[in-house]
Amino acid sequence: MKLNEKINRLKREKNAIILAHNYQRPEIQDIADYIGDSIGLSRRAVEEEEAKIIVFSAVDFMAESAVILNPDKKVLLPTLGARCPMAQMLTVDEIKRWKVLYPLVPVVLYVNTLASAKAYCDICCTSANAVEVVDSLDAETVLFGPDHNLAEYVHGRTGKTVIPIPERGFCPTHLLFQPEDVQLVKMKHPDAIVMVHPECSVEMQNVADFIGSTSQMCRYVKEKNAETFIVTTEEGIMHRLRKENPKKKFVLAYEDAVCPNMKLNTLERLYTALKEEKHVITVPEPVAKRARKSLEKMFELNS
Ligand code: 13P
Ligand code: SF4
Repeated sequence: MKLNEKINRLKREKNAIILAHNYQRPEIQDIADYIGDSIGLSRRAVEEEEAKIIVFSAVDFMAESAVILNPDKKVLLPTLGARCPMAQMLTVDEIKRWKVLYPLVPVVLYVNTLASAKAYCDICCTSANAVEVVDSLDAETVLFGPDHNLAEYVHGRTGKTVIPIPERGFCPTHLLFQPEDVQLVKMKHPDAIVMVHPECSVEMQNVADFIGSTSQMCRYVKEKNAETFIVTTEEGIMHRLRKENPKKKFVLAYEDAVCPNMKLNTLERLYTALKEEKHVITVPEPVAKRARKSLEKMFELNS
């Protein structure tokens, strides 16, 4: 029996579903019950009523959010070491330090943070709704972490003072894209539409025709009447874009834009995780309770 057939059989036997991020390997995307961006995956995890087990094929903070939002489910991460380096850049101590400096300023945290950090913020956001979240707050200044590029993007769109915490938190994968890469592709495809993820640098954001989360990019491509798209986010999204839009052309601006953490998940590891029911992700309830409030506030805005 092929590995994907074995996984499907286990899924039925154990009443499990597979949620996968847009950056997962093609063979994982092809077997997933749902593929999406951070907010889409969290929403899907909240809505899940039937399944007993959720296999979360992504990185640590996303699986943690699923546990926080749906504490009755068993949430499995196929690879324990799949950890987002940007999420590790903001510790609770660092948040507390900034709160002492700005006691009256609300703290907005990107979901790419550990549960312990989420427990110390006022509201969460994703790249899909960061502008809306900051706009909704009755404050002209916010503390925003951990991605300083997303912070700059939010500042540009809202006009508010957005203080990045830590000062220069970043995603190592999105940092790989340079405006020169786009210029080079444009020489070959002058009419191509440039799609940029807001985790990219401000210089990259300035050359964009469209800025959005991974799923927003997928939606935009479907609606946009154009032949060629230049993509500046992790390469895993190319599989979905090509599969959903066989007549359109996609060029990754920098070919080695790979998130090694997302790619730690393989079909073999996913199979073992489901078979042995590991690695179970847990969040201590006092932390989960506080983090849940910050996530739910975000969902209230988006409902
Ligand atoms: P989104 O899929 O929400 O755009 O997030 C991108 C990302 O880098 C997740 O780690
Ligand atoms: Fe973290 Fe960047 Fe990888 Fe997303 S792409 S998991 S932000 S390192």
